[in-house]
Amino acid sequence: MCGIVGYVGPDEAVAIVLDGLSQLEYRGYDSAGIAVINANGVLTTAKDAGKLANLRSKVPSALKATGAGIGHTRWATHGRATPLNAHPHTDCSGEIAVIHNGIVENHRELRQELQARGCTFRSETDTEVIPHLIEMGIKEGLGLADAVAAALRRIDGAAAVLALRQQEPGVLVAARVANAGGVVIGYGAGEMLIASDLPAIAQRTQRVVFLEDGEMACVTHQGATYTDLHGEAIEKEPQTLPSGSYVAGKGLYDHYMAKEIAEQPEAVLDTLRDAAQLEPPAVHLNDLHLSDSEVMGLNRVVLIGMGTSFHSAQVGRIYVEQLAGLPAEADNASEYRYRRPVLDENTLVIAIGQSGESVDTLAAMHEAKRRGAKVVTVCNTPGSQATRLAQGTVYMHCGAEVAVASTKTYLGSLTALYLLACYLGQKRGFLSEDHLLAALSDLARTPQIVGEALKTEAAVQKVARRYRRARNFLFLGRGMQYTTAMEGALKLKEVSYIHAEGYAAGEMKHGPISLIDSQMPVVAIAVRDEHYAKMLNNIEEVRARDGIVIAIATEGNEAIHEEARDVIYVPDAPPLIQPMITAVPMQLLAYHLARLKGCDVDQPRNLAKVVTVE
Ligand code: G6P
Repeated sequence: MCGIVGYVGPDEAVAIVLDGLSQLEYRGYDSAGIAVINANGVLTTAKDAGKLANLRSKVPSALKATGAGIGHTRWATHGRATPLNAHPHTDCSGEIAVIHNGIVENHRELRQELQARGCTFRSETDTEVIPHLIEMGIKEGLGLADAVAAALRRIDGAAAVLALRQQEPGVLVAARVANAGGVVIGYGAGEMLIASDLPAIAQRTQRVVFLEDGEMACVTHQGATYTDLHGEAIEKEPQTLPSGSYVAGKGLYDHYMAKEIAEQPEAVLDTLRDAAQLEPPAVHLNDLHLSDSEVMGLNRVVLIGMGTSFHSAQVGRIYVEQLAGLPAEADNASEYRYRRPVLDENTLVIAIGQSGESVDTLAAMHEAKRRGAKVVTVCNTPGSQATRLAQGTVYMHCGAEVAVASTKTYLGSLTALYLLACYLGQKRGFLSEDHLLAALSDLARTPQIVGEALKTEAAVQKVARRYRRARNFLFLGRGMQYTTAMEGALKLKEVSYIHAEGYAAGEMKHGPISLIDSQMPVVAIAVRDEHYAKMLNNIEEVRARDGIVIAIATEGNEAIHEEARDVIYVPDAPPLIQPMITAVPMQLLAYHLARLKGCDVDQPRNLAKVVTVE
């Protein structure tokens, strides 16, 4: 969703803010803009629709900032992606600039009220009410910080806001209400930075403070003071995050997605490395913070996530059932939070997220906590909101994932969930030492098997070339491969814009079979597992209706050629590991079809890496 960057300090704010925005490009957005106070002390904005390159060309080369600057990447919610709707938005005088991530739910009423009070609106956005509300506060004699607080007290909805005022050139005011996207305040050397995401400031500082819901910061180059929205002071101490490259380059790859698919053996290995011990078998999860008695008291596990992380939850459910012996269910976080879920202190809620910032997952975590459940997270981003909200974290160690479509964090999260399930099984005495050793040995082999699975690329490319003109795809699987089918369909939709559906193969005869004709490629995940014979029946049913079968089969299964027009062989793997293996050709198929179609693989249209509005 929207990205926010701010800078106060002696260096050139225009360049620093634009660099910060470029670190957020991977999130996906549709327009961008900046505001600074120029050398003559005048607040100046530049904005444009499209990529950052468009904005850069709009920024006058002579523009020099004095002191402070703010920048924004927008993902449209209210009003199309046009230069006028891009942030920053200003008040009537053009002396106050505001950038915003979130939704102002009562913007219609506020707009009417402000128009009646003489304000002129220039955009179609909900955001524009905020600078006008601040303008009203300033007219009543407030300074910028108090006027921002007063404005935010008037709005319903979520808001992470950064404001700049011509008359207070060395000050930035940041605020966060109603669990909007993150706001991090970075302490540099004689300078301060503000951002929605760590990568935007990580090159200049690792010393940070995170704003919580209802908190504001008044920031100068010397530091920040913190208050609530009523001016009550709040003490907040900066913490130093582990250093590390938050955003790595593309290297020799054409796209981040290709690089991240290729990095998967490493992502799995790095995630299991310090947690899984074989002699004697044990799992160590140092950041989980669940006491043995809490683990023993559990009688149920609920796994939640969004997008690909929801698919991880579905596989994780089976891990928990089979490795920990606990009843488990998986749910989409955005649905779960509104379902009035029945939870108590014996329920463990596992929230899964690459970013730890997906608004629906965070809201579901709040709801679960409110209802007394124990809430932990499986996450790839240290310092993210999910890790701060949860009682404990199982980290995936995948490194920065830049492509909007998640790939390596899918395998990373499955690895972390497998470890967590083994941990629960070990602590609860459900897994004998032999079982635990067998389970961990299977996991230890996984990086190597994933490496083998990457060799499917040539076969996948052939298939992609053959079906590049297909307008629809069906993905079928059973058991854990049902989830792979859904993940395959999601990846294809996300990056290639080809319509695709993933179904449990058993569901076929209850509807989807009517879609089958000679134009419909059907990817059937038919590895050798307990469902294989049934999958063959489903493949027959597709063939009998002239459907085109692309089988994902276990190496050595020559007979499958008689059933399928195309075969992609994957290496054999232990049953619980198999979904990590079959996911690889799914990702590669989506990637190659998107490439062949000339799509923007890393930043697909309409999508954002982190979804911070409902
Ligand atoms: C967005 C991304 C997906 C991701 C989903 C959940 O939709 O485009 O790739 O799977 O958010 O994100 P999370 O950070 O919560 O895993």
